[in-house]
Formats: sequence, structure tokens, C-alpha cells
Amino acid sequence: MAIISTAGLARTFQTKRGPVEAVSGIDLAVHEGEILGFLGPNGAGKTTTLRMLTTLLAPSGGAATVAGHDLATDPGGVRRACGYVAQSGGVDTQITVREELVTQGRLYRLDRARAAERAEELARDLDLTELLDRKCAALSGGQRRRLDIAMALTHRPKVLFLDEPTTGLDPRSRAGLWDLVRRLRDEHGTTVFLTTHYLDEADALADRLVVVDRGVVVAEGTPAALKLEYGGSADASLQDTFLAITGRGATPADTAPVAV
Ligand SMILES: Nc1ncnc2c1ncn2[C@@H]1O[C@H](COP(=O)(O)OP(=O)(O)OP(=O)(O)O)[C@@H](O)[C@H]1O
Ligand SMILES: [Mg+2]
Repeated sequence: MAIISTAGLARTFQTKRGPVEAVSGIDLAVHEGEILGFLGPNGAGKTTTLRMLTTLLAPSGGAATVAGHDLATDPGGVRRACGYVAQSGGVDTQITVREELVTQGRLYRLDRARAAERAEELARDLDLTELLDRKCAALSGGQRRRLDIAMALTHRPKVLFLDEPTTGLDPRSRAGLWDLVRRLRDEHGTTVFLTTHYLDEADALADRLVVVDRGVVVAEGTPAALKLEYGGSADASLQDTFLAITGRGATPADTAPVAV
């Protein structure tokens, strides 16, 4: 059975200029222990989908379950089962990295000693040990990103949603994050649902890809299968494959008339 399944999941935003259909009916089945790469051009509806699946945004249509919990009737169950790292990180405070991690543990009802222990474990996993006593506000962009991820892992979620987790990370941190994601899958059976614009990353990391454009799924399969189907051969680059699937990736709003 799929650990994430959606049927006709949709979200329209009402704006002054009229409705914006961000997600127009997405059907997904994500398998337990899979690393799913959720790809699509800017504005395709990826973040909106993740925000719905993590209960932060109410769908305007359709249904979904995450780890057996229905989004509409059991949002608390969904929240306990998943961790979420938002596209723009949320950590910018005067408290230290250690305090931030311990507070997060306490929020998940760990006792004081266990929360302190968990903070040390997470710091080890995310290469934050030397930064434990630094103020969060003083972290670099990449360090802050690693803290966001550590916090999302506090309660050992079955499903981890990562929205562009490696944007702004240096190559070493990026390789470290790839290792961590693989370890979560291999050692803990964690399902990882991640978006990225780095196609080398999607190619290296994802067991399966789902490509969305303009709020709908336009292709899905293993990287190899998509290359064969859309890129012309199994040796095609994922970049060429992606462009074949999504055109040049521009949505109508992004397409300005070109003066010649
Ligand atoms: N709160 C909102 N109000 C109005 N429109 C919104 C809102 N949030 C998102 N949208 C619109 O919905 C569409 C999908 O946005 P979304 O953030 O899901 O895209 P994305 O695939 O994550 O893009 P990116 O790759 O740039 O992060 C966009 O056209 C965006 O402008
Ligand atoms: Mg986004």
C-alpha cells in the first residue's frame, strides 16, 4: 500500500485579480521507503502540494492520506507521521542551535534528558556539532538549512518532505545531505519526498520522479525510464529529458514578449 496517496488533490488561491489554480488535481502513489523526486518548473505547484500534504494548507479539492492518516479527518496523525523542511527556512532566533534542537524535542514531548541526547544525535547527523553553542541568527545560509533539516527529523518521522533542501548548500554539505537521505531510507525505511531544481541531484538520489507542470502531473517513472521515453535514450541527460517533458519550463506568466 502506498504511504502517500492523493486523488484529485487541488488548490485554488483567491486573489484580487481572480482565482489562481496552483494545483489542479494531482493523483500520486508514493511507496514506503522510496525517495521520490518531485520536479517541475517555477510555479508548477510543488510547494503548494507539499504544504497541503503536511496539513499547512487546506486543499480546495480532492483527498489524500499520509501514513494511513486522512488529511481531512486526521490532520494530527498526518503531522505526527511527517517532517517538513520548508522552501525558505524558519530558524532565525537569538537562541543557540542546541537550545533550538532541545526545544523542538520538548515540543515532541521528549523529557529533558532525552531531548538533550536527541539534539546531540541530530547535530552529529547534520554536521552541526561544532555549531551547537552558536546563535541561530549567526548561522550561514547552508548551516541554517542543515538546522532546519535536523529539526524536521526530531521525532523520527516516517515521511520526510524536503522542499529544495540543498539550495545554497556547498558541495560538501550537499553530498552530506545525499548520504543522510539515503541512510534514512536504508536504515530507517523513511520515505523521502523531495523537490529540487538540480537535476543531477534528482538523478543521483531519487528512486522515482514525478514531474508536474501548471498544477498537473505530466510524467512519472524512474530516471532511466523517463530518459528513455522522453530523452530519446537511456543515456540522455535528465536536463534534456526534463526540457522535453516541460517545454522550456516557462509558464505563461513567465513568458514575456521578446523584442527583436
Ligand atoms: N498564497 C498564494 N496566493 C496566490 N497564489 C499563490 C499563493 N501561493 C502560491 N501561489 C501561486 O501558485 C502557483 C504554484 O506555486 P508553488 O509555490 O506551489 O510553485 P513551485 O512549484 O513550488 O515553484 P518554485 O519552483 O518556484 O518553488 C504559482 O503560480 C504561485 O504564484
Ligand atoms: Mg516551491
